[in-house]
Amino acid sequence: MVDESNQLVGVVEQDFIPSITLRDYVNEYQSDALTNGYFGHIGRIVGETAQNVRHLHNEGIIHRDIKHDNILVANGSDSGGFRTLAYLIDFGLAKVRNDSEFFRCYAPSQNLYNTLTYHLVQPNNGPRKNMGIGSYSYTAPELARGTCTGTPQSDYFSLGIVLWEAFMAQRAFPNDNYDPIRNFSDTDNQRLIDQINLSYHLDKKTKKVLGNAIENSVVNDPQERKQEVIIDACDELAEHHKLS
Ligand SMILES: Nc1ncnc2c1ncn2[C@@H]1O[C@H](COP(=O)(O)OP(=O)(O)OP(=O)(O)O)[C@@H](O)[C@H]1O
Ligand SMILES: [Mg+2]
Repeated sequence: MVDESNQLVGVVEQDFIPSITLRDYVNEYQSDALTNGYFGHIGRIVGETAQNVRHLHNEGIIHRDIKHDNILVANGSDSGGFRTLAYLIDFGLAKVRNDSEFFRCYAPSQNLYNTLTYHLVQPNNGPRKNMGIGSYSYTAPELARGTCTGTPQSDYFSLGIVLWEAFMAQRAFPNDNYDPIRNFSDTDNQRLIDQINLSYHLDKKTKKVLGNAIENSVVNDPQERKQEVIIDACDELAEHHKLS
């Protein structure tokens, strides 16, 4: 985890949790999307992830690498049933605000909502070696272009892609390379929304809420990404597909 001047301030250690990544979860369960409550679980997973992201932002932490591979899905039920729980992992690219409350609880372990218990380990001081920011296909365009080092709005772009892929059960940018994101334009946003509207496996309400969330997150201009819209959409989708 780096601070605002790109100095390494700590390494986040998380407890091991028996789980699979959201990537594996989607791959494994998408085929019977209509029959086994897939959307119920997916709704809950993205809803919890959105809350986790909001919580991190409130702590002054920008994750900068939100993607399917960095979300763990675990069984949170203690009664033998299956209740999905989502955990956000991998703070390798995260940036923390210098005035964050986070520094006040430096050593003791903390529980960031569902984000696992973490321990911040003292690193060797010094600037962080220059690494690419984020992952192909999920990175906000301003990060891919190098015009910005990340704001809460960049995380909401990535979260929008995660949401889209979870419900569409396919990749938004199938060729894992930077160019589509660097050249991201309103046409790409329209393509993602058209795909939602043409989808045969989503119901009318899901299409409407999902389309609205994508219109307010996976867009070029960071100012046009509306945190509350995407978080509310995740909550609404979780509620709409709630398992009995
Ligand atoms: N707390 C945890 N509990 C259980 N499994 C974990 C945990 N943290 C990480 N993993 C597993 O290890 C994998 C890689 O972890 P992480 O994303 O933190 O590292 P990484 O540097 O991004 O590695 P990679 O290049 O493989 O993505 C995760 O996809 C997950 O399967
Ligand atoms: Mg990772």
